[in-house]
Parts: sequence; C-alpha cells; structure tokens
Amino acid sequence: MAEMIKLFVNGVEVEVESGKNLIDALKVVGIEIPHFCYHPALGADGNCRMCLVGIEDGRPPLVPACKTPVAPGMKVQLDTGKIKKIQQDMMEFQLINHPIDCPVCDQAGECTLQDYYMTYDAQDSRMTVPVVSKGKKMDFGCGVVHDQERCVLCARCVRFTRLITKTGELGIVNRSDEARVTTFPGRPLNNRYALNVVDLCPVGAMTSQDFRFKQRAWFLTRDKGICHGCSKGCNIFIDHNREKYKDDIIYRFRPRLNEQVNGYFICDEGRLSYHAENEGRLLAARVDGKDCSVDHAVQAARKALGPKILMLVSPECSIEEMIAIKALADAVGTKLSGYSDGYIKAGDGDGWLIQDDKSANRAGLAKLGIDATKETFNGALNSSDAVISFNNDLFIHDTGSEFRQKLEKMKVIAVSTHNNTLTQNAAIAIPVASYSESSGSVINKDGILQHFGRAVQKNTPLADMTQIAGMLGSPIVTESDIASEMKKVLPSLTEVIPEGGLKLTESEAAHVPA
Ligand code: SF4
Ligand code: SF4
Ligand code: FES
Repeated sequence: MAEMIKLFVNGVEVEVESGKNLIDALKVVGIEIPHFCYHPALGADGNCRMCLVGIEDGRPPLVPACKTPVAPGMKVQLDTGKIKKIQQDMMEFQLINHPIDCPVCDQAGECTLQDYYMTYDAQDSRMTVPVVSKGKKMDFGCGVVHDQERCVLCARCVRFTRLITKTGELGIVNRSDEARVTTFPGRPLNNRYALNVVDLCPVGAMTSQDFRFKQRAWFLTRDKGICHGCSKGCNIFIDHNREKYKDDIIYRFRPRLNEQVNGYFICDEGRLSYHAENEGRLLAARVDGKDCSVDHAVQAARKALGPKILMLVSPECSIEEMIAIKALADAVGTKLSGYSDGYIKAGDGDGWLIQDDKSANRAGLAKLGIDATKETFNGALNSSDAVISFNNDLFIHDTGSEFRQKLEKMKVIAVSTHNNTLTQNAAIAIPVASYSESSGSVINKDGILQHFGRAVQKNTPLADMTQIAGMLGSPIVTESDIASEMKKVLPSLTEVIPEGGLKLTESEAAHVPA
C-alpha cells in the first residue's frame, strides 16, 4: 500500500499517492492535467509542454507536471490566468499546421487534440499563410497507417518501438515545422505489437488499416473482456455495435489496463482475433447433414450418451462451463478428457505477452482435475464408439491429424462455436455462444483468475455451453451450484472476482501448467 500525502491544488487540499508525478497522482482524484507526450508506460519525455503548471515554492514560474513528483504540502496552481494562457498558446502552437479534417479523421470522437481544443483553446486560427504539407496515408507496415500532417510530434510511438518492443523502427527526422515521424528506408514496422502505436497516438496520426473508416468511435459500445488468443489472458475492451437492421458486430479489440497481466498493451494477433468472433461461426444445428433446431440436435445427442462415449472439453471453455461438462460426464458415467495439444504452438511465445499455448484456460482444466494427457485420451478413444466434443477443436493447428482416421469411424457430436474439421464430419453439430457472447472465468498461465461478462448480444442468441450441458443432462448448471463448486476448488475465491483478477494462492495455483 503506497503512502498517502496531502497537497493543495488551486488552494484545495487533496490526498494522493506518493511516488507519482502530478499527472498520475491527480488523475486518481479526478483532476486532469492536459498532456500529449507523457504516458505511464513510456515515462516523461517533456517535449509537448502541454502539462505546464505553477508551483508556489520558489521554483521556476512554470514546471512540467509529467516531470514533477508530488510532495507533501505542495501548492499546485492549475487555474491561474497564466496557466490558462500557456495552455491556449501550446494548443495554438500544436494547431499551426494541423489540418482541420476532424469530420474525415478516424480519431474524431476519441482524439485528445480535439478534446483539448474544446477545453483549453476554442479560439479561431490566426494563421494567414498556407499550412505545411506532409505525408498522408503512409503505409508504415503491420497494418499501421500514418498521417504526418496530423502528428503532434509527441514521440510516444517512437518511444514505444525503442523502449517497449526494442525494435526501433520509428524516428523523428528534420526540425521545426519540417519535423515528421517516419520509418527508416526499407525498414517498415516489423514487430508483433506494432498496432499499440494506434492506441498510444493521442491524435489521428496513427490509424489501423483494419479499423479505419469502419465505424465512428461514438457509435461503439465498449465492454470489458479477456482475450482468448493465448494463455496470457490479456484484458481488452470489446468495441461493438448493432447497426440498424443488422446484427451486433465486433469492430475491434483494444488493450485494457491490468498491471498484473498485460499492462497497457496487447499483441496484434490477439487484437485482430475479434474477426474470429464475427466470422466462421457455426450458427445452425445439424443432424446427419440436415439443418434442424437446437432442441432436436440435443435430443439426438442425448440418445447417444452413455459409458461408451468419450467427452472432450476445450481448454478454451470457462471454469463454469468445465464444471457443468464434468458433472455431465459423471452423470453419464463416462470419461472426460481435456486433450488439446493442437492448441500449443511450440516456440511461438516471446517471453512477454505472447504464449505458446493458444488457449485461455488450460489452467482451469488442471484445477478441476480434468486429464489432458495424450496417453489417457488415446486409451479412452480406443475404448469408445462415439465422441462428444465441447468446443475442443482437435485439429486447430492440424497436429491432430493422426486422430482423423479413428474419428472417421466413430459417431462424432460437436458442440461448437465455429465451423471446423470436427463439425464438418460430425453426425450431430450443435452451435453455442462464443466467449464474447457469454460470461465466465478463466485462469491464466500465471495463476490469475479473471472474470469476463457478456459483451455481444446477437439478434438470435445462441445457448451457451453451460445451457447445452444442462439440456444434455448435467445436474450442475445453475449459477449458485456452479459457484459453490468453484469455491470447493478455489477456496480463496470470495463472493466476486476482483476487477484486476484474483492471484491464486500458491497451493491453488500448484496445478497451473508452466
Ligand atoms: S504519430 Fe502520434 S504518437 Fe507518434 S509522434 Fe505523432 S502524434 Fe505522437
Ligand atoms: S498475448 Fe495472448 S492473450 Fe494477450 S492479446 Fe495476445 S493473444 Fe491475446
Ligand atoms: S506531458 Fe509534460 S511535457 Fe508533454
């Protein structure tokens, strides 16, 4: 717990955390100091001068708040005429050559420059000479599009590639009004986190090829989610919108701050994995190649349940879904396997966020004691005449091809979010809601239990996996039954999982795979 100190802002006493600079400390108590170049993940650069404040203790008349640590008894001035004038002057300076193209800029509605103009400037331009023309719509690589004219030269993007990815593809060249951000000749952005510069850029100078011009920022609904792209479980915003006469569609994932999981960033692959929530989905139930109702498919599947059917659960399922499916296996008296080696891409992880394991909840399998070994799976497969898979895509990276021939001779029932090799060859296919359309909890590879809520509300909602397990005969499907089962395996879990996730105790996390 950080030490709290008292200081004065515009004569009013406030209590803030020590050890922070003025921008971060005052933000927590609802006081904004405008800034462009400072970012908590990149540190203070001091180049934009937008954060100048007054301190009544004999220091120079104005100091940058980004470089000024809070101190007990400090008297900070934010509202004097002098501060307001300097903010207005800095804004005028930033806007001298800035194109007035907010109506066609992708950043409009979430642009710091636009917001600051309205708050701290709001004066007409005094410029009578033509603005300096610079590069437009420049392909910087990795799906990043740059507009040099909109850039305020805060250097956040440059510092990201130097300090965070340590790839250094970006630089600022030339001086004064000829200064511009660029890549080095023949060396475009080339790292797996490049699209973070789009979030870092306070203006519309860095945009994403994937997102630009697809939606206006103010039409999007922002829900909190957990990326299911790998076992890191990065925290994300799911930005989605239901346009008139259309379905609820996800338009982008963005990073959501969680200090103990992903910090301020996510990888590009995870960011773009929202496409898979919109596309390639299994939407209709099928029995023997013919579309039918989900009820009909579930009834057909129920008839096939018995001791000779192997149940397969996915490491993508939430803990809640796993509990319901495990209870179904126990009720039917059959084996349950979490075998899913196909989700592991050996050597793909980078020791930071990206992990080899491309599933979100393998640790949950271990926590619930669900065997995921190939040997047990093989043995169970040999002694079974049918398989029911709960969203376990055995062939996800095609490493499961050795099972293809065996499965071709067996009755396959696929309960699945997506069309895949298994559903194509299944006698019975049952569609289910994906993680953005349902809620649940997952344990990441560091033993952090995190909860996610339902974000997307489809026009025709699909049943979630727990509901399907219940329809198939699972005795544990209600929220309260599942909650009490969760508490049995996770004793440190109190009523709700905290916003930042719950770090499991050492003994609870003992089974979390490395
Ligand atoms: S492109 Fe954006 S992040 Fe980079 S220097 Fe310009 S304004 Fe800052
Ligand atoms: S590192 Fe993994 S969890 Fe994080 S954004 Fe990338 S794919 Fe998603
Ligand atoms: S944020 Fe302090 S100088 Fe830019």
